[in-house]
Amino acid sequence: MKEKTKDIIIAFDGHSSCGKSTVAKAVAKELNYTFIDSGAMYRAITYLALEQKLINGKKIDIANLKTALNSVQIKFIKNKRTEKQETWLNGKNIEREIRGIKVSDSVSYISELDFVREKLVALQQEMGVNKKIVMDGRDIGTVVFPDAELKFFMTASADVRAQRRYKELTEKGEKVTFEEIKQNIEKRDYIDQNRDISPLKKADDAILLDNSNLTREEQLDWVMEKILSYRF
Ligand code: DC
Repeated sequence: MKEKTKDIIIAFDGHSSCGKSTVAKAVAKELNYTFIDSGAMYRAITYLALEQKLINGKKIDIANLKTALNSVQIKFIKNKRTEKQETWLNGKNIEREIRGIKVSDSVSYISELDFVREKLVALQQEMGVNKKIVMDGRDIGTVVFPDAELKFFMTASADVRAQRRYKELTEKGEKVTFEEIKQNIEKRDYIDQNRDISPLKKADDAILLDNSNLTREEQLDWVMEKILSYRF
């Protein structure tokens, strides 16, 4: 007889654009768990700040952003046609907008703010009260769920990541250059790793996965093997 499996929290942290969401999403599907893209939440707040003209370069209107955060509502809703989970902010589908270069260029400045992180970490912790979630981000295994049962830390070379992202964006019709993408990735790595609050770093108990030379299938097999050996 099959043993009963434990309900757990699985954290995927790591560098920008190294395919965390793709693996995390696939894992959630295999386990019938909920996938949560915490980066989409930081992107949603960045979109809100841009839309309400509360950010101009590195300059942020802190007082008004704090007020806007008091009533912010972020939801992940499955698109019935594509079956893909999409991000909604205050009742509006913003999935497409938050993936563009404009939001990508400003998101690091918003995610450095202590009050933004406090708000989003609290929302993320609420989403994990019943476990059975796979969450990806930068501080999931270190800050949001330091007691997560399984933690992965993913990385890949900046060139490989920029190439993948360039392909993804140009296929969507965005006018971008490879250099611009690579610079954005390197800038985000730097800010993510050097910010004062919750900098990106591997939790001591996280399993390292460098996927520079792995296909999606190879990664998923590798990760699933670790998960299944933990859960049974
Ligand atoms: O995963 P992503 O690239 O979509 O995340 C967008 C930005 O949000 C990224 O530059 C860093 C930030 N982020 C964060 O600070 N903490 C998280 N848990 C997730 C994302």
